[in-house]
Amino acid sequence: MREMRSKMPIELRMLLSSLVLLPFLHSAALAADIERGQRLFKVCAPCHAIDSDTNKAGPHLKGVFGRPAGGVAGFRYSKAMSEAGNAGLVWDDKALAEFLSSPKTKVPNTSMRFWGMWFQSEIDDLIAYLKVNP
Ligand code: HEC
Repeated sequence: MREMRSKMPIELRMLLSSLVLLPFLHSAALAADIERGQRLFKVCAPCHAIDSDTNKAGPHLKGVFGRPAGGVAGFRYSKAMSEAGNAGLVWDDKALAEFLSSPKTKVPNTSMRFWGMWFQSEIDDLIAYLKVNP
């Protein structure tokens, strides 16, 4: 085995070792994103529960990914949000990214008082965090 490996061209050995490492690097990067998303969620937490189905000033966000807008039974949504949900708005990657960058643009007259996030990377990490809390 040792013999064989040492006869391999260096390029091939480097390629093989990077193939072995790739999945680990990838999951490390994902974990970092989710951790950052969790930190960023602090700005949402006063109004939104993520790990229980308790509603605060805003509806709980447990399992929000893939949920229709206005979908938490018993929460008093604005007319705008209920109508957006009835019209087919579902919280997927694109819809969440648009809403979080500017709630008022995505759902005019929403009762969510939040100015929106500036950076796409923050939005991506936050969505990654929402996804791991089904
Ligand atoms: C000041 C309180 C407040 C803050 C801060 C806030 N929200 Fe909200 N959020 C609300 C309210 C109220 C609603 C309901 C809006 C409506 O009915 O129009 C809402 C609705 C939502 C919805 C739609 C949920 C559904 O069931 O349709 C999502 C998604 C959401 N917020 C995500 C977030 C995220 C992520 C953050 C942090 C970046 C955040 N919100 C910050 C109050 C807040």
